[in-house]
Amino acid sequence: TYVVTDACIRCKYTDCVEVCPVDCFYEGENMLVINPSECIDCGVCEPECPAEAILPDTEGGLEKWMELNSKFSAEWPNITQRKDAPADADEFKAIQDKFDTYFS
Ligand code: SF4
Ligand code: F3S
Repeated sequence: TYVVTDACIRCKYTDCVEVCPVDCFYEGENMLVINPSECIDCGVCEPECPAEAILPDTEGGLEKWMELNSKFSAEWPNITQRKDAPADADEFKAIQDKFDTYFS
């Protein structure tokens, strides 16, 4: 599966949802997540994200994000259409490790 990580927080460009063939993105207030049981591992979303927030779970060290994607994709609503990013998305794109301060 592919996983949405820290870089999405407060960026939410939503280019990813536009290309996903199985519509498996789910939207929270400050980030999107992928439902791991729906993702077919096609990889087309990865290069679409301007924040480089989407990674394959074969990369090491993503346990926290795999768990978070799994948990919240069961709770948050499905998003299938691109929408405008937050006005300050580009400022947040430059910030690293946003989870503790900005996730919720
Ligand atoms: Fe959707 Fe493919 Fe990305 Fe999985 S890898 S979330 S199926 S676009
Ligand atoms: Fe987030 Fe990138 Fe999609 S910032 S909403 S994972 S395009």
